[in-house]
Amino acid sequence: MDPPDIESVLKDWEDLSVEYKDLEILNRQYQEKLEEISELQEKCLKGISHQKYRIGIIKQASKKLRKGLDKELVERLDTVEKEEEQRLAQLYEMEQILPKQNGRYLKIILGNVNVSILNKNDKFKYKDEYEKFKLVLSGIGFLMSVLNLILNYRAVELAFIFLLVWYYCTLTIRESILKVNGSRIKGWWRLHHFISTAAAGILLIWPDTTAWQLFRTQFMWFNAYISFVQYLQFVYQQGVLYRLKALGERHNMDITIEGFHSWMWRGLSFLLPTLFIGYFFQLYNAYTLYKLSYHPTATWHVPVLAVMFFIIFWGNIRTTGIVVFQKLDSKDRAKLQYRVMGQRDSSASKNQEEKPKKTN
Ligand code: COA
Repeated sequence: MDPPDIESVLKDWEDLSVEYKDLEILNRQYQEKLEEISELQEKCLKGISHQKYRIGIIKQASKKLRKGLDKELVERLDTVEKEEEQRLAQLYEMEQILPKQNGRYLKIILGNVNVSILNKNDKFKYKDEYEKFKLVLSGIGFLMSVLNLILNYRAVELAFIFLLVWYYCTLTIRESILKVNGSRIKGWWRLHHFISTAAAGILLIWPDTTAWQLFRTQFMWFNAYISFVQYLQFVYQQGVLYRLKALGERHNMDITIEGFHSWMWRGLSFLLPTLFIGYFFQLYNAYTLYKLSYHPTATWHVPVLAVMFFIIFWGNIRTTGIVVFQKLDSKDRAKLQYRVMGQRDSSASKNQEEKPKKTN
């Protein structure tokens, strides 16, 4: 290869400088678009809160007026109410592609970094990844519980309990990010994972006494069972996720709201019994720990964990009960319909209502 001569180096540099000028123009355009976008985002956010505020006022006024009206006007108010619900669903969908402030918990642990995901596909991927993360960790949890049932080494059991602390702590962060990005996850499930983090922390520092040894085997069986339940939850949640995605896709007519509901109930009829067995296992843990708290080697960890298991049992059974009753209510179906319609354009949603082709 010939050694480079000065002329060609200078020429290369000049060529590159010309290219750089184009890049500068492109970058300036990009900055302008970014500014434009942030102005549009602000305007949209203002518009949404204005709509919500006025819907609230109209709702209050309709409520007061309803009593003295004749049938025809009441029917008109009913129509307005339905349209309001639909509008709220549409506003919710608009919010999904706008940046949102972090909650207090995320602000504390992450600082004021923006965790809003503005693209629907990326949101879907994040949720999918969250479900897969839980599946992998529950698989590891299952293996470690079985290992601890076979072996009784303090180091192995501590490694397992430490994994639980880390796992639940990570879930609280991921779920807070999901919440910022519009997930309708109930407050209890998030609180449940906070309590589970604390409970796992207490288990980690529970000294290796006879009281612990008396609880240990039951605890490992409990974890093995919970891992199995989590696997079933994964299958159900993945099904919901992919079906909702299909429902929200404008040209996808392979799945209808009817089809979604019948699939959902089939999934739940399989999942719910296993969940309730898990809840009674939690109650049984609380009872065993309560009895163990009278054991001579019991430390403060035992009654505290008994109370925590009881709270978890009660919160789980109550919330799952509420979720099931909400799903039985016909309003839930309407909400789902509004949610899907919010994601589609009006013509496509009409199409969906008019041409129900049931497959699931
Ligand atoms: N953990 C995390 N997210 C949950 C959740 C849970 N336990 N339960 C529901 N969600 C999420 C859903 O994925 C959905 O998210 P999205 O808005 O991002 O789509 C949102 O919360 C609303 O879900 P919802 O319609 O209320 O319920 P569902 O049909 O998705 O699930 C159950 C209903 C009962 C199957 C589900 O809540 C569940 O599995 N609960 C049991 C959890 C439990 O008890 N764990 C301990 C095991 S013993």
